[in-house]
Amino acid sequence: MAKQLLAFAALPILAGCTTVATQAPPPAGHAATDIPAHVVPVERAQPAWAAPDPEMDRTIDELMARMTIEDKVGQLTLLTSDWESTGPTMRDTYRQDIRAGRVGAIFNAYTAGYTRELQRLAVEETRLGIPLLFGYDVIHGHRTIFPISLGEAASWDLAAIEKAARVSAQEASAEGLHWTFSPMVDIARDARWGRVSEGAGEDVYLGAQIARARVRGYQGHDLGATDTILATAKHFAAYGAAQAGRDYHTVDISERTLRDVYLPPFKAAVDEGVASFMTAFNEYDGIPASGSRYLLTDVLRGQWGFDGFVVTDYTSINEMVPHGYSADLAQAGEQALDAGVDMDMQGAVFMDHLAQSVSDGTIEMAAVDRAVRRILEMKYRLGLFADPYRYADEAREQETLYRPDFLEAARDVARRSMVLLKNEDDTLPLAANTGLVALIGPLGDSKPDMIGSWAAAGDREARPVTLLEGMRANAPEGVRIEQVAGASYRFEDEGSTEGFAEALALARRSDVIVAAMGERWDMTGEAASRTSLDLPGNQQALLEQLVATGKPVILVMLSGRPNSITWADENVAAILHAWYPGTMGGHAVADVLFGAYNPSGRLPITFPRTVGQVPIHYDMKNTGRPIELGEPGAKYVSRYLDTPNDPLYRFGYGLSYSSFGYSPVTLSAPSMGAGGSITASATITNTGDVAGEEVVQLYVRDLVGSVTRPVQELKGFEKIALQPGESRTVRFTLKPEDLAFTRADMSHGWEPGEFRLWIAPSSGAEAATPVTFTLTE
Ligand code: BGC
Repeated sequence: MAKQLLAFAALPILAGCTTVATQAPPPAGHAATDIPAHVVPVERAQPAWAAPDPEMDRTIDELMARMTIEDKVGQLTLLTSDWESTGPTMRDTYRQDIRAGRVGAIFNAYTAGYTRELQRLAVEETRLGIPLLFGYDVIHGHRTIFPISLGEAASWDLAAIEKAARVSAQEASAEGLHWTFSPMVDIARDARWGRVSEGAGEDVYLGAQIARARVRGYQGHDLGATDTILATAKHFAAYGAAQAGRDYHTVDISERTLRDVYLPPFKAAVDEGVASFMTAFNEYDGIPASGSRYLLTDVLRGQWGFDGFVVTDYTSINEMVPHGYSADLAQAGEQALDAGVDMDMQGAVFMDHLAQSVSDGTIEMAAVDRAVRRILEMKYRLGLFADPYRYADEAREQETLYRPDFLEAARDVARRSMVLLKNEDDTLPLAANTGLVALIGPLGDSKPDMIGSWAAAGDREARPVTLLEGMRANAPEGVRIEQVAGASYRFEDEGSTEGFAEALALARRSDVIVAAMGERWDMTGEAASRTSLDLPGNQQALLEQLVATGKPVILVMLSGRPNSITWADENVAAILHAWYPGTMGGHAVADVLFGAYNPSGRLPITFPRTVGQVPIHYDMKNTGRPIELGEPGAKYVSRYLDTPNDPLYRFGYGLSYSSFGYSPVTLSAPSMGAGGSITASATITNTGDVAGEEVVQLYVRDLVGSVTRPVQELKGFEKIALQPGESRTVRFTLKPEDLAFTRADMSHGWEPGEFRLWIAPSSGAEAATPVTFTLTE
């Protein structure tokens, strides 16, 4: 079946929409769902793993015929082991539950030995011997930790991102895991929300490309291979739009914004063949995501033809009660199953209530069977019915974890992720004759902070290479590094000057100061929202005193969100944003500081000047009174009285130790129509003295639409490496469907009209001279 984008389908997508003419049956191999007649499926290629398998169907039919309702509900239940927990622990009886066949999947349990032990309980001590599925949050590495997901996204390097996921899968599967709760593909445009660190940033196009790269990396070409794992696209949907950036908060966005901004990365994951989806904690349009039939059935299965299974987020069925959507847990379970949930994570709602709901007749057995079949199919496809222990291989585990090439890959991805935000007078790279470097700040020698949140089974205590260790190991001969913390990032230490005197004494003796500042590793991630984006604790106060010494100050930021570092931007000599760079982070930072690697990262998210600008993103609308219409300082235009509209650093921005020149853009034709395409090209030249990489970005503006359109949208990018003086012509081909959006009538497609296009090193049309083209009928 040919892969086809939404664009041409002009889909009727809303409940109540009347166009039903093109209704087609669900794709082959797809368990029947009660997809309403008005939902029109999109044609797409079936992933290889979803190919029809009569032998599998026979095996599962036979098995299901022997299953009681209790056995079935067991397959729909996912519980955490007591090794660790990622939320409120509700049950500590998981071993008894496994023996009783009350649980079909376990998370937070890994190592070949431990998964084998638990698998044995399921296979040898239950009546039906159905193997367990083992899941885990393998988010940016399993043992070898890569940069946090937002950092990886800053590399704009899809091969590197795929590689990180591939290594994660190799390590995780060697420890008995079958399934990761990654990638998180939530678009995030509010830096207050702690989970900005877990996604790919603010952009729809970049987010979709990265979603695909990660799914490819985890799942490889063969889901049944023992070194690949199932990926999960999460959190479906619109979790990143939490009001006021407060985690778990209400989401209230338009249907159009949902479709045009928040859903495309999920759709991209489906197109890449992702095996599972996770629901979100938030409500969308008044309905908790775990109870949203619209999201989980109409869109996901009906329109997108998703073949895998849906797991809830942690106790999110239970949470439908405090949301005020369900009167009690029994009703919540019924609503969730009916909406399209297949597996209940940790809440035990299905476990405790579903059998009763079936016997009361409030839920049909067919609905339970449908979910059970999806889970059993996935276990079958993983080969677990043939050999339940095939992933639990101690010998492979021994030779796989922390392999030297994995560590090398982690170092490489980390340096590719770093973004040079400022570099006045070529302060960086540090000269080989720099005498004494004063490394100051709470993040200079802090192992736990190197690997950020959701570091899975990553060791936080011994393995991570700190900045101090990395800089000492990689400094040119003769360069000395001395380190003191000097300041604290703890909120409660704001106002304290403890440690300042020692830091300033070192600073005064030094030739250059590297200030390692930012946030503690758990200030981003889940349940880590902030109302301020400033440097926490007393770091800002120390930074100001360091600058006052007159020595050059290089700020190395370790953080999982955009911070408002406006003062630093105006006052320090150089700024490198290093995110939480992972196990090999210290080496990677040293590679950049000493010039062994020329920084090539670009921001995947806008950095505001102040929290008051949030939410701020590069693809905003123009408004009827854009600021450019008025004289500087004009009153009745869309602006603030006290802060410019512009962010501190734009989406797509990042410096290099080289410089790059862009030729004017040429277009292959002045217009294109249905079935056609247009190619835009520009020649990029490395005008600097050193080899470097440039992220060449294509932006488009649709000037007039049946609904207003953003002032710019990323539609392509390519990361290229150029020697000094070398030029390369980069070409981007656009088709009409690449310009599709949700039109006034809620159909999805493009509209004829005039477009502006430019190729530039970052967002912001002023960075380049746009050309125009016309899209004809
Ligand atoms: C998070 C998910 C995570 C799950 C399991 C939840 O609290 O929202 O992203 O996968 O826990 O640990």
